[in-house]
Amino acid sequence: SSESEESSSDDQEDEISSCDEDVEAKELEESETTKACEVNANSAEDKKPEEPILESDFKKTNCTSSKEKLEVQPATYVHVERTPEIQESRLLLPILAEEQEIMEAVKEHLIIIVCGQTGSGKTTQVPQFLFEAGFAKDGIIGITEPRRVAAVSMSKRVATEMNLSTNIVSYQIRYENNVTSETSIKFMTDGVLTRELKEDFLLSKYSVIILDEAHERTSNTDVLIGLLSRIVPLRKKKGNPLKLIIMSATLRIEDFTKNERLFKTSPPVVKIDVRQFPVTVHFNKKTPISDDDITCPYLDEAYRKICKIHRTLPSGGILVFVTGRQEVHALMRKLNSKFPKKNNEARNQEKSKLQVLNLDNYEAKPRDDLEEDDRTRRLDLSEDEDGSSGDELMMEDDALTSEMDSSIPLHVLPLYSLLSSEKQRQVFAPVPEGTRLCVVATNVAETSLTIPGIKYVVDTGKVKRKLYDKITGVSSFRVTWVSKASANQRAGRAGRTEPGHAYRLYSSAVFQDFDEFDKPEIETKPVAGLVLQMKSMKIDRVINFPFPTPPPHEALESAEKLLISLGAIRVLLNRGTLKEMKQAQFSGTITDLGHRISAFPVHPRFGKMITMATKHIDIIPYVITVVAGLTVREIFFTPSHDPDNDANEEQNRQLRARLSHLKSLWSSVGGGPERKLLGDLMVLLGAIGSAEYSGATPSFCVSNCLRPKAIIEVRKLRAQLTGIVRSSLGLDDVIIDPKMEPPSDEQVRLLRKIVLSGLGDHVARKISMEEIPSERRKEWKGAYQSLLLDEPVFIHPESVLSRDPLPTYVIFQDLMEALSGKKSYIRDISSIEPEWLAHFCPHYCHFSKPLDLPEPRYDVTTDQVKCHVTASYGRLSWSLGAVEID
Ligand code: CDP
Ligand code: MG
Repeated sequence: SSESEESSSDDQEDEISSCDEDVEAKELEESETTKACEVNANSAEDKKPEEPILESDFKKTNCTSSKEKLEVQPATYVHVERTPEIQESRLLLPILAEEQEIMEAVKEHLIIIVCGQTGSGKTTQVPQFLFEAGFAKDGIIGITEPRRVAAVSMSKRVATEMNLSTNIVSYQIRYENNVTSETSIKFMTDGVLTRELKEDFLLSKYSVIILDEAHERTSNTDVLIGLLSRIVPLRKKKGNPLKLIIMSATLRIEDFTKNERLFKTSPPVVKIDVRQFPVTVHFNKKTPISDDDITCPYLDEAYRKICKIHRTLPSGGILVFVTGRQEVHALMRKLNSKFPKKNNEARNQEKSKLQVLNLDNYEAKPRDDLEEDDRTRRLDLSEDEDGSSGDELMMEDDALTSEMDSSIPLHVLPLYSLLSSEKQRQVFAPVPEGTRLCVVATNVAETSLTIPGIKYVVDTGKVKRKLYDKITGVSSFRVTWVSKASANQRAGRAGRTEPGHAYRLYSSAVFQDFDEFDKPEIETKPVAGLVLQMKSMKIDRVINFPFPTPPPHEALESAEKLLISLGAIRVLLNRGTLKEMKQAQFSGTITDLGHRISAFPVHPRFGKMITMATKHIDIIPYVITVVAGLTVREIFFTPSHDPDNDANEEQNRQLRARLSHLKSLWSSVGGGPERKLLGDLMVLLGAIGSAEYSGATPSFCVSNCLRPKAIIEVRKLRAQLTGIVRSSLGLDDVIIDPKMEPPSDEQVRLLRKIVLSGLGDHVARKISMEEIPSERRKEWKGAYQSLLLDEPVFIHPESVLSRDPLPTYVIFQDLMEALSGKKSYIRDISSIEPEWLAHFCPHYCHFSKPLDLPEPRYDVTTDQVKCHVTASYGRLSWSLGAVEID
């Protein structure tokens, strides 16, 4: 269901592995969960809305001719007083050599592209160049970042470098900003700028917009590029030109430069030469077979390669790329037991075993029983296909035969997105004397972070991705090969400080079959949230929008369908040709309800739930809490089943038992029969409510299997959503206090209905025993028929509603195929009564003529009629019987 947000979640037992924690969508933990829709908390009030830019304007506007010369304004130089140290370190940045070229390009063209590797100085320096050239005199220099944490830290860094206060170099992210009337340079997330466009389509207060990290191809940045390709010429027409700088860490820019719909003439590209030391790439001769992705032969292979490097090659850090959190820890455990840390460190780790619930200690620990026997696995050099510089590996091969390892300790550190930022920062700290750094990372380390001192890269070539079905939105996790661009990026990490080596655990033949590039986010994720945002900016024919790469047709179609069913957009179907009718399907216009929904920076389904609650003020805080919990996701810390380590398995078992116990407590908090029917959403309410009651301290969270960061995020999001309810819906009475009493039974019943109103297509009905073919009786026990898949689905075992008696009709947030692809699970379940569909999801219902009943069929007092109602979803239809409707 949740489209705009990012991955997350916890490891699962065995094949159920349906969750997202392990997916590292190039994002660090602080990344936006709902990037698609941020709110401009700051500037909304003081600006009168611009007159709407109509779609027709879009068509009429000429694209920028970037070659077009503008009169060069004699920009007045602004002096910046930097400290000598800063001055010195700046001079080392490759981008300093290109300052003149960049500034000339900016002066002569409206739109330019700057390419340069991570670390070349783009983010920190380009805003300074512009400031010094006087661009801040005509407006703010705005820089967008895909991640919140980058927006904040970069603004601080630039303020320090320029010796200016944060009143002048400021940031704005989802929940906070330090923008003042003096702000000249403003770092923000791409979501913040998207939201600002709704208030002021011409972005009048900016003189320059820099879209940073454009290579990441987040949907927001892509849409911003499309919008700005039209805004820039409009601003020129108004005599108040806006400059656009697109910055990319890779040279993959054809989607921007060779895209006539976007820019008629290709914008000039300034490339920054970065000194990169040569990296020798070694392919394996064979690729470890991994048809069954769960058993991870690539991990064993990675382990062996690291051992070999550590024992035989000269000093230098090792960076190994694996697929997810679970794999990071599995590999760390193996390495830590093979190359134990110094004794006292090991002892400290032993001690921490006692603090079972302290997540920070919930990390790899030394193990005594080591199954791995290197004697049986003599490595031979012939693995290195090119053999060019792997010679060193052979020389001390005998070292592998010694059972007791005498190598220096390996300083093994994890790096993945859900790791706390504090732990992430460890990789930047100096390595303890007499040890070798080995960072076990997911693809977070591919572009986002530069780790000092890496000389060897071990690349499994694998990445775990969350894939969505374009039509149904059903998601699944798959471990796939990375793209060639990723593999090269990974290899490049070895040559930052001196010549390095990259060991690819796959053959060059396999590499040849890799995709050239990763797909942009917009091609792979559901787009309902984006489509609604665009419609709220009067871009009705989203299909004609100049995307750098357009979303798939099917994805757009299902987004429109969903928005129609939510009542957020409407399609005026005039009589016409079939083609016209089809076209109309893609040009729904936003409704009043849609406008209200789009005010909330969450998925439109959730926006719908909140707007549905506005007639019942007392219930709004609960709806907001449920929405916040579902948006943030991964509220619970679910310990994984870990076959590698008995001690950890015991801890995990205890933690899982505790979580299960807690869930049943939370799902019945306050007592009353209705609560259980709200199911996992009641668990969410109970968990968040009790966390807030105890002040949401990290220790409370951790000892109750809650992720402290997630709880804080939920609190912030609740405050933000409450603020919007109060301001945009004018409901000043809605309570802001994060603490809440448990809802009454009556309120819970209403909550179930309201949640249903956003999830009409996420209904599933229990398949009765009679309906199951006899040979499937066992296999299909507890099976449900959803509207999205032909095959049956099952309630995820982590759901509190997964136990008998199973509810007949349920709604779910997520439908996910297990990693094995064998079974599909629905998650975050509540039970509903089918008659509610007629009231809350009429779009999916077929109503008979009013029934001829002996009694007065028309009830004057309630204004209701009785109909036979069939819920129908394409081929499927369920008779809901006679229902009274308005
Ligand atoms: O944007 P790009 O990746 O091209 O480079 P940057 O973020 O501007 O960083 C340029 C240099 O500044 C790098 O060498 C960073 O290590 C350094 N830097 C820093 O020392 N502290 C920060 N907070 C940010 C950057
Ligand atoms: Mg940067």
